Amino acid sequence: MSENTEGARDALGEPVMIPVEAYTSPEYARAERDKLWRKVWLQAGRIEDLPDVGSYLTFNITDDSILLVRTAPDTIKAYHNVCVHRGRRLIDTPAGARNASGRRQQFVCAYHGWRYNLDGENTHIPHKEDWQGALSDSCSGLQSVNVDTWGGWIWINMDPQCEPLRTYLEPAATMLDPFELQNMRCRWRKWGIFDCNWKVALEAFNETYHVQTTHPEFNKYGAFRGWARAHGKHSNLGYEAPKGMDENQSAKLRVGTYDDPRISTAQMQVYTWEKANTNTTQTLVDAALRLADELPEGTPAGDVLKHWLESARRDDAARGVIWPTVDPKHVGESGTAWQIFPNFQIGHAVNNALCYSARPYGDDPDKCIFEAAVYELYPAGEEPKPEWEYCPPTEEAWCYVLSQDFSNMAAVQQGMKSLGFPGTLPNPYMERSTVNLHHNLAQYMGTGAPRALATRKDTQE
Ligand code: FES
Ligand SMILES: [Fe+2]
Repeated sequence: MSENTEGARDALGEPVMIPVEAYTSPEYARAERDKLWRKVWLQAGRIEDLPDVGSYLTFNITDDSILLVRTAPDTIKAYHNVCVHRGRRLIDTPAGARNASGRRQQFVCAYHGWRYNLDGENTHIPHKEDWQGALSDSCSGLQSVNVDTWGGWIWINMDPQCEPLRTYLEPAATMLDPFELQNMRCRWRKWGIFDCNWKVALEAFNETYHVQTTHPEFNKYGAFRGWARAHGKHSNLGYEAPKGMDENQSAKLRVGTYDDPRISTAQMQVYTWEKANTNTTQTLVDAALRLADELPEGTPAGDVLKHWLESARRDDAARGVIWPTVDPKHVGESGTAWQIFPNFQIGHAVNNALCYSARPYGDDPDKCIFEAAVYELYPAGEEPKPEWEYCPPTEEAWCYVLSQDFSNMAAVQQGMKSLGFPGTLPNPYMERSTVNLHHNLAQYMGTGAPRALATRKDTQE
């Protein structure tokens, strides 16, 4: 199916085997806390989750909990969420909740009543004189954590020596900036505790190789081959498409290439909206449903795509939703999704986004906290503010298409423990994001690097 494609193909990656240690080893999972999670920039929430001075939320990962606070209209600070007296967690996460959130003028420890202001300074210690002046400001205040923002998200890094966020995120930040993700707002967001390693969960979404088998319903709308490219710590994915079509838009938005593209595009949009509730918007669906009325039979697929996107852009503009204009060449290079090392995926478009993240559940290699959030552009003042909804990995709780992805996760985790399974064999072209993830993980973890497989060329030499 790739003979009629061009442009997106780059050199094949080296065929490798990735040992299962990173997915199944309890020792590896325990080591991740110190070697990985306490060293990297992590997406910890959205800026709009902290609307007012005093708004706070917590972000929990393995043994650490981080308290994020808006301390001024233009300032967000982060602290270790622990009282420095005897180590009580300062803000409790309500039972069954993903995180704590709310608004306060100060933080009071529930154990002995030490108090901290929004800037993390200690403001009250009962019977402070008993310490005979030994409690300095630096030892009685909250311990700060590096925090910065990009793309509308709040990022934290627990390593005092860390590089700046922007440096860490490049080239992903520059590639994604034109999509103005900071202007999007959440349509829905869900989380769950899944029976697989966090890498297994993310790797269900960082390649397009699985689509034809795991999501067979999409096959009737068109055949698209996906690429993946490494960019330092990060990587991106995209689609090849028939010559003359906007490759990523056409494949991601699934302009049908079979039969009548006016009809298959509309069918695909309705299916995606109803069965996944991701990667599209009501405006795009409505505009797709009008294609058969607005365009003559026989309109080429590329023209259908152009008309559809132009009319949807116009419809949104009429209600005050302005899509950014991104150079088509840049759209092509940026692909459809970025993997931000180590555990965040941004599936970007000019008017919506689908993001996944996964992190460990304690230090159990067989469990993770999985999250997905869908964003889109809204008219000012009409943005919904959905809470995080806890959902088990079922079709009923999420949707049909995501449940197809979930159906592989626990089975992969179990299968990887088999005596008969030495390691994964990722596709050197379509699954390079996974290979790149493990190359980079090995840098942090000191183990688990992908191993080269002998190719026919090697064995002939
Ligand atoms: S542990 Fe917080 S006041 Fe004692
Ligand atoms: Fe999938």
